[in-house]
Amino acid sequence: MASADGAVSVQGTVRPPGDKSITHRTLMLASLVRGTSVIRHPLSSADARSTAACLRALGAAVGPLRPTQVRVRGTAWQEPSRTLHCGNAGTTARLLLGLLAAHPFETRLTGDRSLRRRPMRRVTEPLARMGAVVTEEGGDCLPLRIRGGDLRALDWTLPVATAQVKTALLFAGLAAGVEVRVREPVRSRDHTERLLIALGAPLAVDGTTVTLAAAPGWLARCDPLDWQVAGDPSSAAFLVAAALLADDGEVCVRDVGLNPTRTGYLDVLARMGAVIRRENVREAFGEPVGDLVVRPAPLRATVVHAEEIASLIDEVPVLAVLASRAAGESAFHAVGELRVKESDRLGLLAEDLRAVGAQAVVDGDTLHVVGADQPPRGHVETAHDHRLAMAFALLQRLPGAAVTLSERVSPAVSFPNFFHTLDRMTGHVD
Ligand code: S3P
Repeated sequence: MASADGAVSVQGTVRPPGDKSITHRTLMLASLVRGTSVIRHPLSSADARSTAACLRALGAAVGPLRPTQVRVRGTAWQEPSRTLHCGNAGTTARLLLGLLAAHPFETRLTGDRSLRRRPMRRVTEPLARMGAVVTEEGGDCLPLRIRGGDLRALDWTLPVATAQVKTALLFAGLAAGVEVRVREPVRSRDHTERLLIALGAPLAVDGTTVTLAAAPGWLARCDPLDWQVAGDPSSAAFLVAAALLADDGEVCVRDVGLNPTRTGYLDVLARMGAVIRRENVREAFGEPVGDLVVRPAPLRATVVHAEEIASLIDEVPVLAVLASRAAGESAFHAVGELRVKESDRLGLLAEDLRAVGAQAVVDGDTLHVVGADQPPRGHVETAHDHRLAMAFALLQRLPGAAVTLSERVSPAVSFPNFFHTLDRMTGHVD
């Protein structure tokens, strides 16, 4: 609620939408096991719909994707009669490539303008090493065609920690029944490992190395899934940030995934002075889940180190926006990967922070942000990047702010009803 002096008070209980990573993974696995799977609380956003549409084109019966549940009748995939369109979703494209590598037909994949500029060789190169035949049409990017078949085992070292590539390779090994070992420099989000272990797949984790043993026919023997998806910590981060930036009140963000490979943002926020209580913490479907109780707090600058980045890769925009309101200069090291997200997120983030009056520079792979307390004013170009739009939308609510966004539709990619949820939390009425 905004008072006469513009102060913002937050209140109530909010729930983030279902986890995007877990939704993509469970939909894909469910489409390949025999029988009908039920996935509860899935993400029902544009990205999840892209995966569902691709799986339908491959022969799986994916029911309506509702926030309450989706039912999927799995099948042996068949050659699709058309190009698979992955929309804006890098996870859809990369994880599907892994599974398609084990299927003996050719599939063409494409995506929207943003996805067609994102690198794919990081996935197709190891898949080709396993025996898939990849035909590029646009160099390192989509569109491309993949013809799968009998694959060889793989032992692969990733130069950069990436859960999408790790998952694609594990999925290829799972579908082909061959051993796959993936080594990462730092552990990226481990939802795939947790899901496969919970489903009984022969997978072992040793530090930052994951090994899937050869298990021919495992998918055909796997029971249908009856799964519940945790709330997405990356979406929750925007609600947490909105509460921190308010002037008073308290918000409970419920049923949030608290997987330690995703909660780096909570550690950073603690260093910045936030006191966020974790309540009702429990383990559900292989993942830690709980509620976050957040009160507004004055924030101070911090340094985010290279080893932390994998655990908060999607939270850099919201953390940088918070850093622009914190006392002192913050630095985010080793954030070069942000250049190949849904936009050149690194360059745009710095430009947009400057556009609203903050000081921000990119020096090599480090982003520096100096906090200020004058009201943010200016126009933000989101390039249709959902996380930029949501991060800068938070600044619009500060007292005296005059921030415009180039668009408000991109949050639908990962957080349906984002603006409505934010309004409800701040008691804001248009
Ligand atoms: C994801 C992994 C991350 C993340 C993306 C989802 C996943 O990408 O940015 O939003 O579901 O595995 P990278 O693995 O490329 O870092």
